[in-house]
Amino acid sequence: MGAATAAAQIEGGSHEGGRTDSIWDAWSRVPGNIADRSDTSVTADHFHRYREDVALMRELGLDAYRFSFSWTRLQPGGAGAISAAGAEFYDRLLDELLEANISPMATLFHWDLPVEYTHGWLDRDTAQRFGEFAGLVGERFGDRIDKWVTLNEPATVTLNGYALGLHAPGQSLLFDALPTVHHQLLGHGLATQALRAAGVRGGIGITNTHTPVIPASDAPEDHLMAALFDVVHNRVFADPVLLGHYPQVPDELADLFGAFSAVDEADLATIHQPLDFYGLNYYMPSLIGAGAGDGESPDGTSEAMTALPFHLKELDGYPQTAFGWPIAPEYFATAMGEMRERYGEVLPPVYITENGASFTDEVAADGSVDDPQRIAYVHDHLSAILDATSPGGVAEGIDLRGYFVWSLMDNWEWAAGFQQRFGLVHIDFDSLVRTPKASYRWLQQVLAARPAAP
Ligand code: NOJ
Repeated sequence: MGAATAAAQIEGGSHEGGRTDSIWDAWSRVPGNIADRSDTSVTADHFHRYREDVALMRELGLDAYRFSFSWTRLQPGGAGAISAAGAEFYDRLLDELLEANISPMATLFHWDLPVEYTHGWLDRDTAQRFGEFAGLVGERFGDRIDKWVTLNEPATVTLNGYALGLHAPGQSLLFDALPTVHHQLLGHGLATQALRAAGVRGGIGITNTHTPVIPASDAPEDHLMAALFDVVHNRVFADPVLLGHYPQVPDELADLFGAFSAVDEADLATIHQPLDFYGLNYYMPSLIGAGAGDGESPDGTSEAMTALPFHLKELDGYPQTAFGWPIAPEYFATAMGEMRERYGEVLPPVYITENGASFTDEVAADGSVDDPQRIAYVHDHLSAILDATSPGGVAEGIDLRGYFVWSLMDNWEWAAGFQQRFGLVHIDFDSLVRTPKASYRWLQQVLAARPAAP
């Protein structure tokens, strides 16, 4: 059992130790991009408070902690050698974790691209640069990291960052964003090779977000658009990594994916590296209907989205998180079942690298933070996948090795700023005081009650 975070969302210290701007630093400073006009400069101040945060993890009883390296802290300007000052922060963090007997899982790319990479993932060269960066980080930290995640949710980067303009770098290219899929996946393959060449001792994987897709009706056009969404959100990122080729698309959609038919076999071989594990993030299912919508998505309003041939619909009959996301644990089992069906033969051991929910948690007069909905969310989602992977379950045979709650602490939720709280630990973003929530206490008891390992 672990908990997860990401550098841009918790570290702050954005100009300390020679760290330079990432695309999120720059983008968050542009008025209108972030819901509450906040930026990345302080966030949860983990850069200064990491000791307190590791102590909270230890007290909680976590086995593992997933964090991300800030690219521009380790490699200011996105070029050259690893910065001694930047690396020193992670040395100290890793010392604390290892001392607390908490296994480190490190993500190499959790969205904070150096601002100097002006075309971002549209540029094939970014894949090369990422591979080189991975090799340098592998050499520097390879002796202490237990698990390496190359990319975090490339689907969200392509969809929100390059197709719909909801995330940095804020481009609204719709289907012209597809080259960012290939370049990220190529970056994953090159990074995997570079980590292995650096002799890292930890296992290597990728984190993809999976959403089971539900057609809005039995109408063929709704089914076709649901299949399209399944391709752009799920299959286009998982198939090349696990199967070594891009997904088959229905003939009616072939034009949209023309670029993929021309993909170089050598690139596919690079992308299709043997992996030690597969990281899966699950938050919710997606109900998809044919025809343009009003631009509303679970991650905000996108003008570009109104030009798409499909739209996301609200799933009736389910409670919602503060983000308005449907709480549907049974679809977590569906997602795992789809993994077995699609990739069963070749799927390496699976870690749930993120699962969690945002609620409007407040500190009460007595200092407590009561979040019964998060307790129910984590409990029900964990139960769903434990059942699914048990004998007779829809995902029987999947080797499920671990589960990371998103997130250890409230943090800077990208374009939503500080308005969406996902943490087991509450953060007061003015005083930066940390307060464990009821969900933290609940999980602490669950972990303490586990039978000792044989
Ligand atoms: C997935 C992302 O990896 C993480 O950064 C984000 O905060 C959560 N989803 C919640 O939206």
